[in-house]
Amino acid sequence: MAGKGFTVKKNWDNPREHEMPAGTRVPAEMRLGSVLVSPATVLAPMAGVTDTVFRRFIRHASLFSRQPSSAGGIELVSQVSDSRPGAPSELEIDAAVTNAQSGCGLLMTEFTSADGLSRMRESKRRRYLTFDDDEHPIGAQLFGSNAETLADAARIVQDAGFDLIDLNLGCPAKRVVGCNGGSGLLRDLPKIGEIFRAIRSAVTIPFTVKFRMGWNDEQIVCVELARMAEAEGLNGLALHARTREQGYSGQAQWEWIAAVKQAVGIPVTGNGDIRTPEDAAAMVAQTGCDGVMIGRAAPANPWIFRQIAQYTATGSYERPTVEDRYRLIRTYFQMLLAEAEASQALPNHPNNKDPLWGTPVKAARMGETAGKMKQFASWFTHGVPGGAKLRAAIYQVRTGAEVLGQVDAFFLAQQETGSTLGSEEEPGDASGFPETALVCD
Ligand SMILES: Cc1cc2nc3c(=O)[nH]c(=O)nc-3n(C[C@H](O)[C@H](O)[C@H](O)COP(=O)(O)O)c2cc1C
Repeated sequence: MAGKGFTVKKNWDNPREHEMPAGTRVPAEMRLGSVLVSPATVLAPMAGVTDTVFRRFIRHASLFSRQPSSAGGIELVSQVSDSRPGAPSELEIDAAVTNAQSGCGLLMTEFTSADGLSRMRESKRRRYLTFDDDEHPIGAQLFGSNAETLADAARIVQDAGFDLIDLNLGCPAKRVVGCNGGSGLLRDLPKIGEIFRAIRSAVTIPFTVKFRMGWNDEQIVCVELARMAEAEGLNGLALHARTREQGYSGQAQWEWIAAVKQAVGIPVTGNGDIRTPEDAAAMVAQTGCDGVMIGRAAPANPWIFRQIAQYTATGSYERPTVEDRYRLIRTYFQMLLAEAEASQALPNHPNNKDPLWGTPVKAARMGETAGKMKQFASWFTHGVPGGAKLRAAIYQVRTGAEVLGQVDAFFLAQQETGSTLGSEEEPGDASGFPETALVCD
């Protein structure tokens, strides 16, 4: 659904290192209208990444159990490092998981065109609006520029059973901005007001907006926009603290999250450059935001939500071992393949036009499944010793089976040499991977 033509970097420019702030933690919960986000952490919408498989993967990877500790507090039962033979799989993906058990409080779909949604056939719609029961609470993100079309699409989203609708006012992609969608609308606040009113009166479920600070440094509108959102009855907002012109460069300017928080009474979710639990707590400490939204760190470190929850409860968090990483990437790939197989088995499955793992396949779907595996392997092995070589090898292969073969070989070699992860990658990343071809923000 998302248009092509914008490129984002999957890494951060000169990331700031944050100390864990004394006494501040990511809040235990935030309420977006009737939706309880607990803990107050949100998986950011990411086109090409946050499909139903990835969202479920993150929710399961974020699992933790609260048990009364001997000290009378809360103890988190780790599932990270139990790699003994016969030990239960870390991610029981068939088990029902809710945000009551997961460190990730809210999932979001990638952005979806309101125009496309209101015009497409029912069967095709399902492909974009597919989610599993255990993804609740889940929000669907829409983009567009026509108020009535957006209102129609919002009704469709509500009827599909989503818990919340989010409007995208951040996407910098030329194709989206060219039609006045995404961050293009940041230059036309009256139009945004019209859209807010149309969507608000079309649905009863909570309605939020995700936006950038403004078009450029000369036109910062985030505080005004936040006040409008509150006045029009929106239930919350999320600010990616960059301008459209900034793209993904430089630092997110968290001071604008603080300014927005001071301006409104509805919950404010801060977004931009959270890579670690320390960053998440530092953002809360510096801005007073009610919740945090995490994008690029999620595919690079799918444990981040659990680590935040663990940190919040105990003041420290676990780091994954090589075995943990290997198990996690295999789990995700198996989920992708299972989804592909399911789509092959069902003649009316929304993906059934696409080729599948290990079977004679049509080009588009094979590209999609193998492409997702490549993309994930690429994000997931940044910062891992030898990761650049793996990415270079993966770039050469075509099928999901071959990607998995490369990953198996890589991690088995790591285990044999007893490598520990977490140290810096060798300089000069020769991965050959293009920067993530992106669509949106
Ligand atoms: C691959 C990718 C796809 C994205 N797609 C969307 C999207 O569909 N909608 C949206 O609002 N933001 C999108 N974004 C922006 C993220 O939601 C988030 O605002 C941004 O990455 C900054 O957060 P981070 O520093 O935690 O990554 C995307 C970002 C990336 C990296």
